[in-house]
This record gives sequence, C-alpha cells and structure tokens, in this order.
Amino acid sequence: MANEKNKSLETAERILEKLIDSKFSRDSLIVSFGGGITTDISGFIASVYLRGIDVMHIPTSLLAQVDASIGGKTGVNSKKFKNMIGAFKQPLAVMVDTYYLKSLSKRHITAGYSEIIKHALIDDKKLLLRLEKFQGDFRTGKNSIELVNLIKISSKIKAKIVEQDEEEKSVRAHLNFGHTFAHAIESVQSFKGLNHGEAVGVGMLCAAKLSLLLNKLTIKEYDRVRKINKKYKLPTELPSDCEPQKILKAMELDKKSKNSNLRFIVLDGIGKAEIVENIPEEKILNSLKI
Ligand SMILES: NC(=O)c1ccc[n+]([C@@H]2O[C@H](COP(=O)([O-])OP(=O)(O)OC[C@H]3O[C@@H](n4cnc5c(N)ncnc54)[C@H](O)[C@@H]3O)[C@@H](O)[C@H]2O)c1
Repeated sequence: MANEKNKSLETAERILEKLIDSKFSRDSLIVSFGGGITTDISGFIASVYLRGIDVMHIPTSLLAQVDASIGGKTGVNSKKFKNMIGAFKQPLAVMVDTYYLKSLSKRHITAGYSEIIKHALIDDKKLLLRLEKFQGDFRTGKNSIELVNLIKISSKIKAKIVEQDEEEKSVRAHLNFGHTFAHAIESVQSFKGLNHGEAVGVGMLCAAKLSLLLNKLTIKEYDRVRKINKKYKLPTELPSDCEPQKILKAMELDKKSKNSNLRFIVLDGIGKAEIVENIPEEKILNSLKI
C-alpha cells in the first residue's frame, strides 16, 4: 500500500527496473492509478525513465483529484524530508471520476477537502462561500453533484495558477499555503501521525494565525478559517507531540527556505495570498498557538 515511507527512491528504482525488464520504450505510456503518492511517484518515474516518457493520471483520492495529479510536480521523499527528490513532468491527461471516491475512507475524503479549502482561501472567495454553504454529507464520496462542482472549480484554480508559473518562480508558491507548517508536522510525527491533508488543514490554520499577527487578516477572517476546518472535520489543534520548538526546527530544514530564511505564504484577506520572509522567531512560535 502507498505510504510516505515507501514514497521513496527505493520504490522508484524497483519500478524502473521492472520497466527495463519489460522493455518499456520511449513510445510507452505510464498510467498512474491511485492517490497522490501514486501520482507523485509515477510522474517521477515517467520523468526519468529513458530521460522522460509520457504519463497520464487517473487519481482515485479526492486530494489527488483536486491537487496532486494536476500541475506536473512529481517526486519522492528523501530519508528524512518530504518531496526532496523530484522533477516537473506534466501529464498528457488527467482523468477524474468521482466513482472511485466511493471506496475512499472518510478520513481521506476529509484530507482532500483541505486542498479545496486551500484553493478557496488563496484564490476564490466565492468557493469559500460555497464550501460554507455545502449542506450534503460531504464525507460519503457518493456522486453528489456539489462534490463534482467543487472538484471542477478547485482543479481549475490549481491549473490556472500553474499555467502562470509552471516551475514555482513566483505565484505557484501560493499553493504552498499552510505547507511549511504541514511538512514540519508530518516530519516531527515521522509520517505516522496526521496524514498530508490533515496536516495541511492544521498548517493552514497556523498560516492564517500568522496572517492575523501580521495584520493581514482580521480576527473575523481567522475565525472563518477555523470554522471551515471544523466543518470539514480537519484538525483545529496541533497534535500533542508537536512542541513548537520541534516544529520550528523542522521548518528550518524545509527545502523551501530561501537563503536560510523561512518563507511563509500568508493571506492578505480571504481569497488573496502573498509570500513573506524574515519573520521574527517569536511571531512564528505565536502562530503555532491556534
Ligand atoms: N504533486 C503535487 O502537486 C501534490 C499536491 C498535493 C499533495 N501531493 C502529495 O500527495 C500525497 C497525498 O495524497 P493522498 O492524500 O491521495 O494520499 P495517498 O496516495 O496515500 O492516498 C491515501 C490512501 O487512500 C488509498 N486510496 C486511494 N484511492 C482510494 C480509493 N479510491 N479507494 C480506497 N482507497 C484509496 C491509498 O492507498 C492510501 O492508503 C502526499 O505525498 C503529498 O505530498 C502532491
């Protein structure tokens, strides 16, 4: 089964050897079928096999349907850190069918909503209103029309942002909203605690708190972020094993730190994001008090 431990170079090497043994050629196509871990690793393999062959994704988790399968970021984890090894490789196509979500656990449906909420918070006020109004049983993964709409809107936001900045030189970084905190949480918990989507949920709340501390978000807006997390059953507290100093240390090792400065994505009001650097340590620690 796919997990953050086997999203590794060893797994990639094993699959690559199989492709070689099976005589996959430059004309071959890799079709990934699974969650974000599968789309990430398949895309990475496609980017290095024979210096690059085609790949298409059939994402089967909500998180992969609204986020991971789109935009061409691929990769595996290093022994200690997430997504440290990878490449940009755009898929030929992404085929989304909500039918697959029927067998997805409620916990992983919830995890998928975190990235939909992220897209709303950084880019689309109306999507946030829509998520706030959603009345159905959002965790069943059944063919709810509204869920289909949310997937469509969310994946279009991701595609729009990636089209502007494919290799993350500027605006694509906004998609990392909450992720500096989330990756630190995942790493402190040795990938055995919150899953990626849940960590992004609580990470977004920390990033919203930082936005509040920087006077870029009002208390009312911060409360909206907390409420939307709560509604979609995402965590609203840091896990007990994530002491602030440990999180800070893990963040300092995050690959997205530029010139050893920590970079954060904060909200400048709901629906607009920006990159901030040189944040005093005390403010970072205070942003963990959510
Ligand atoms: N490349 C990107 O742009 C990008 C963006 C966001 C996240 N990610 C990566 O995506 C990963 C998280 O993705 P995820 O949440 O899909 O995790 P995942 O791939 O681990 O899938 C979650 C779990 O659900 C299972 N599963 C998947 N589809 C299922 C289905 N239809 N029915 C039953 N079980 C199913 C999987 O086997 C797994 O146990 C992380 O590694 C993250 O770094 C990448």
